[in-house]
Amino acid sequence: MAFSIHQICRGFSSSAVRNAVIKHVTVIGSGQMGAGIAQAAASTGHSVALVDINDDILKKAIKGIEGNLKRVVKKKFADQPEAGEEFIQKVLQNVSTSTDAESVVQDTDIVVEAIVENLKIKQDLFGWLDKLAPAHTIFASNTSGIPITDIASSTSRLDRFAGLHFFHPVTTMKLVEIIATSETSQETLDSIRNFSKILGKTPVSCKDEPGFIANRLILPLWLESMRLVERGHGSIEDVDTVMKLGFGHPMGPFELMDYVGTDTLKSIMYGLHAANPDLSVFNPCELLNKTVAEGKLGRKTGEGFYKYK
Ligand code: NAI
Repeated sequence: MAFSIHQICRGFSSSAVRNAVIKHVTVIGSGQMGAGIAQAAASTGHSVALVDINDDILKKAIKGIEGNLKRVVKKKFADQPEAGEEFIQKVLQNVSTSTDAESVVQDTDIVVEAIVENLKIKQDLFGWLDKLAPAHTIFASNTSGIPITDIASSTSRLDRFAGLHFFHPVTTMKLVEIIATSETSQETLDSIRNFSKILGKTPVSCKDEPGFIANRLILPLWLESMRLVERGHGSIEDVDTVMKLGFGHPMGPFELMDYVGTDTLKSIMYGLHAANPDLSVFNPCELLNKTVAEGKLGRKTGEGFYKYK
């Protein structure tokens, strides 16, 4: 193909048109969320560079993506195994991996960051990438709740910086929260809204406040669930059963917290508490601290509130 959509759009002078097309995606962090975002983008025809700190982590991420794709194909291509295999190969070909962010961001339309939930580490990463990425590249953080304004402050591209908060598991959860700061441009918002729709998501706009909408709603439930267990109102299994059978939740709060990762959850909890010291619903919870201290980080480590094979 002589011209990609990306090259054609570079010919237009309007930044609105240029920004409207996201073809090359860089995902930094290949853990639960990064791998899921990479899979969703690659499955919808984007060229994806997946970056992490070492090759072993990246290999594990690709293996996870391949396993997920096999499950998808089993359902969607039940009667056409060859077409299913072709789909898997196409998607995998769309993903490259690297431990060198510097080399991959040179030609990317968007950087989606999904690294550890820590403001300073995110700021350092974006501050560094800001000097390397082309001017048109949009920066997006998948933070669970750190204000985007704080993360973006380490860069000089405030108009091209937004929050793009996916949900776990990314390939099945339809929601994405889009967070604009007071500086985010309309072109940037249009681009990432369009991008998230192409990924099959339903975007919701949120105010740039710690926890946005979703985590401000779910954290009080999760924290109170842990407090109920601490106070002996019931067991972990009891609380999960109440929420599933009494309220129709597809998963109990402890099952869901294991999905998210207790370490990530702890960072969200302290972030929300620091931002809202007067709201007791966000008060830190000892059961969570203990679970993290014991290395029980959830499904990703084989044990959290529950044990996994
Ligand atoms: P995770 O612990 O599974 O993965 C984080 C990955 O980032 C690891 O592979 C780690 O090696 C890598 N990493 C750390 N520093 C890096 C750097 N400087 N450069 C490249 N890679 C680096 O964490 P998870 O669950 O994927 O979360 C990632 C982000 O997404 C966090 O900000 C979290 O709050 C957010 N998030 C998490 C959700 C969840 O359900 N777990 C849901 C929505 C957002």
